[in-house]
Amino acid sequence: MRIPIAEAGRHAGETVEIAGWLYNLRRSGKIVFPLLRDGSGVLQCVAVKSALPEETFETLKNLTQESSLVVRGKLRAEQRAPGGYEMDVESAEVVQRVAEDTPYPITPKDHGIDFLMDHRHLWLRSRRQHAVLRVRHEIIRAIRDYFDSNGFTLVDTPIFTPAACEGTTTLFPVQYFEDETLYLTQSGQLYNEATAMAFGKVYCFGPTFRAEKSKTRRHLTEFWMVEPEMAYATLEDVKRVAEELVVFIIGRVLENRRPELAVLERDVSKLEAAKAPFPRISYDQAVKILQAKGSEIQWGGDLGGTDETLLAEDYSSPVMVDRYPAQVKAFYFQPDAERPELALGVDVLAPEGYGELIGGGQRIHDYDLLVRRIREHDLPPEAFNWYLDLRRYGSVPHGGFGMGVERTVAWMCGLDHVRETIAFPRMLYRTRP
Ligand code: 4AD
Ligand code: MG
Repeated sequence: MRIPIAEAGRHAGETVEIAGWLYNLRRSGKIVFPLLRDGSGVLQCVAVKSALPEETFETLKNLTQESSLVVRGKLRAEQRAPGGYEMDVESAEVVQRVAEDTPYPITPKDHGIDFLMDHRHLWLRSRRQHAVLRVRHEIIRAIRDYFDSNGFTLVDTPIFTPAACEGTTTLFPVQYFEDETLYLTQSGQLYNEATAMAFGKVYCFGPTFRAEKSKTRRHLTEFWMVEPEMAYATLEDVKRVAEELVVFIIGRVLENRRPELAVLERDVSKLEAAKAPFPRISYDQAVKILQAKGSEIQWGGDLGGTDETLLAEDYSSPVMVDRYPAQVKAFYFQPDAERPELALGVDVLAPEGYGELIGGGQRIHDYDLLVRRIREHDLPPEAFNWYLDLRRYGSVPHGGFGMGVERTVAWMCGLDHVRETIAFPRMLYRTRP
């Protein structure tokens, strides 16, 4: 019977078949130890010369890294083996042998990051990358489960869009047939606002694009964002949902992905320490705290990456910073009723220097104000006519946020760069493979 390595524990004492790839090979005289991976796990096999046909033993002994093969044998508990089980090989069949003159390029020695990135299509097979992407999958599953079980309807939004959502300086234009220029979406928010008026609570979840010429460890040009949007909601509702979502994700990752976090040598106590209620501070307070810590920030300016790190270092949970000056935020933010120079927006900053995980807030629901803002931001009014309809027909206070998947993965896994959080990252200087 063919089984995935992950299920080896349920088949101890049985003879089974495993289809995989040779991850590593150790030789010790008349015994060889092929380490097999199959995508679900890693299994150490034991091939004893005296117990096998000569040809089988020689084949295994000389097998090259990443050759594909199917092995059969009996499983046995072995505490010292990775995963806790070992297989005594009875037969083996090579599916494709990696040729000696084109050996697998990624060896256990240290390679530079550029080399690994150039070989990303192969690098994904390594144990670390495998662990990162499994944590990513868990996070995405948790996000979907959270919204699906809390009354949100998934309504995905278009990727070809006629106008900017998050500022015109980070748009990627696309030639759309002969005579139209469209842009890759920066955010599904504007469309979410329409679907929220139809469904009440919605979310979209897809790739988003920013032509940001930043070469930081937090920026990709293509990243995945989940964006909930709620009708009849205020900034406080947005903060509550953001906090609940983050807590839910951490819980799931700790529940289901401890082995992967161990591979990554992640200090899980840092994740365990992130608990609700998250600290909540205003932008005003943030500026004072930062100035006291020696930051150059002046009231009115946006927080830089370093400021975010400085601010978050005082807390073990993500910190929520609200009410930024409207001038540093996008056009759609509802102003604070008492201090209209402030936007009813919130950023959620991760601990340990991972920066802004979530950005969101309450949207303008007043028609005239929104028209004014579109004009002030020099946005093409004709592209926003449909959006203004939402303020003509039953407008209500509403809000939502966007959470970047890659930054969340980087934080949970404790990675020093977002490039490893997605299978094929797109960055300023990286568009291949
Ligand atoms: O703060 P941002 O730009 O917010 C919006 O796009 C809103 N329209 C979302 C909404 O309210 N529906 O982006 C939201 C999140 C950030 O907090 C960050 O996690 C991530 O998206 N993000 C990026 N991640 C990787 N690379 C980039 N270049 C990113 N830009 C934003
Ligand atoms: Mg933001």
